[in-house]
Amino acid sequence: MQRINSLSEYFKKYELSEKNPESFWSEIADSFTWKKKWDKVLDWDFENVSINWFQNAKLNITENIFERNLKERGDKTAIIWEPNDPNESPIHLTYKKLYEETCRFSNALRSKGIKKGDRVIIYMPMVPEAAIAMLACARVGAVHSVVFAGFSSTSLADRINDCQAKMVLTSDGNFRGSKTIPVKSVVDEALEKCSTIESVIVLERTKQAVEMFEGRDFWWHDCVSEETNICDAEVLDSEDMLFILYTSGSTGKPKGVVHSSAGYMVYSAYTFQNVFQYDENDIYWCTADVGWITGHSYIVYGPLLCGATTVMFEGVPTFPNVSRFWDIVDKFKINQFYTAPTAIRALQAHGLEPLKNNSLESLKVIGSVGEPINEEAWHWYHDNIGKGNCPLVDTWWQTETGGIMISALAGITPNKPAHASLPLPGIHPVIVDPEGNELVGNNVQGNLCIKFPWPSIIRTTYGDHQRCINTYFSNYKGMYFTGDGVKRDHDGYLRILGRVDDVINVSGHRMGTAEVENAINEHEEVIESAVVGYPHDIKGEGIYAYVIINSQSSDDKVKGEIVDVVRRVIGPIAKPDKIQIVSGLPKTRSGKIMRRILRKVASNDFGNLGDTSTLLNPDVVEEIINGAN
Ligand code: WTA
Repeated sequence: MQRINSLSEYFKKYELSEKNPESFWSEIADSFTWKKKWDKVLDWDFENVSINWFQNAKLNITENIFERNLKERGDKTAIIWEPNDPNESPIHLTYKKLYEETCRFSNALRSKGIKKGDRVIIYMPMVPEAAIAMLACARVGAVHSVVFAGFSSTSLADRINDCQAKMVLTSDGNFRGSKTIPVKSVVDEALEKCSTIESVIVLERTKQAVEMFEGRDFWWHDCVSEETNICDAEVLDSEDMLFILYTSGSTGKPKGVVHSSAGYMVYSAYTFQNVFQYDENDIYWCTADVGWITGHSYIVYGPLLCGATTVMFEGVPTFPNVSRFWDIVDKFKINQFYTAPTAIRALQAHGLEPLKNNSLESLKVIGSVGEPINEEAWHWYHDNIGKGNCPLVDTWWQTETGGIMISALAGITPNKPAHASLPLPGIHPVIVDPEGNELVGNNVQGNLCIKFPWPSIIRTTYGDHQRCINTYFSNYKGMYFTGDGVKRDHDGYLRILGRVDDVINVSGHRMGTAEVENAINEHEEVIESAVVGYPHDIKGEGIYAYVIINSQSSDDKVKGEIVDVVRRVIGPIAKPDKIQIVSGLPKTRSGKIMRRILRKVASNDFGNLGDTSTLLNPDVVEEIINGAN
């Protein structure tokens, strides 16, 4: 894998990627194994959103993880798995063993009738089998869609139905901290609303009692017991779908973001190698869940393509105590540690005491992802975890970008607190004003767009291509719009300012306000609701809901029920932190909710609410201010 070793080399590569992107990317792609090479590196059109990377090449991403790595790294550890309970033994899976297990499960998938192009849902805990499940789907050309195991049965059913999946891979239960969470029963409930699922394969993890439906449900261990550990990889076209991952947007239901095989492979591997500056014997740990894009690109695909040793952790940072992350760092002598600002802030709140028995001296690089990292958290992380001498890579990217877009390269790009810093080679960000004019030069602030395709750019939103065009490529002509605000400072370094649309980022998880509102509105006494984000010390943003109810019940009772409804409809991550019962919502004369006012009130920023006299119902503003939480 091509590796950048100095700042001057970074600038040289960046320049090449601007002047001759095709030669830049083909040089990188050359180090992979192809069944057939491409006819043309890139063909693209941002108007209709037709993007073709490595046109007509043939490959299988798992051959690039296994066959390409096995000769030199067969006995090297691919995955270290740390269970939820620190008293349970970790598992070290070598590349050879992971390959064999993947082949065995690939055969099991084929035996159950899974073919190229079929969609398979993965709703599993953080266990090695979740990675094996993803890789086995990729091996047989099936399209996986991992659904975070904290989502409700309704959210799961919506995703299954949207992509018309044929199979669900799940477990009996899920250990998370001191809790044991039922998983299979959630699947059973979801499947009452789904007609496309033919079979369910259930991994035994917690050994709790589950119902198994004859002819539909099968145990994982039974499925693999008769299968061999050799399995031919399906030959895929570069642009064949690799996976779908659902993510929230500013409107309605989640979108199925589609990534294709070759471009995603090249980009996830290249960025992993260069951002983290992985060396052959390093142990790398990303604390994300495989249910999110970070888990896809930087626990599974990127590291394994590069022949790295990647750690998977089943549990939570606070169990059995708040030293858990640091204990794991010391236990496996982690060299690169990648986590989210929300975890840093939560652990920072406990002070330095939980660190006193940890050396953390193995760390070489620390990373941040998922939301803006505030300066205070940046310094705490840098000083106390990185001991002041580990480069901190603040990596900006999105489900739709497939891989890291703006970030320092560890040890190469100078660090600047709270700045994602510079774009990776091949990434051409532009800052635009609301009219779409490009703001050139330094000291400018606006909306972040990308003007040229990169290999792992979103290809479509599953089943609704127009939605992809409208959401990402229509706001600013000829550009991909990220939904984020950004500032380029006097040195040309980029600082991400957060979402400029109706998406809130709660603990690094994206939530569409409309999605939360829809869930709240399912409560039968709710007439209307409006949800906004507000600054939250630990979560980054909290969820603030204004709700109009038609009820004789006490406000407190309804508030409790609303929380339950959201938990049931979406899942615990979408629970409102604050609910204010109101008699009306501030609306314009055309009936549009003035969210700007609601955001200010939720943030305790009553000073400058702007002109409210043109509202349909100006009186309501005062009521809202007086009743604010
Ligand atoms: C936000 C996660 C600031 C951003 C990989 C983006 C960030 C959204 C950063 C995507 C960062 C991600 N600094 N903000 N380093 N990384 N974001 O799809 O608002 O779950 O649009 O992908 O997270 O979230 P997603």
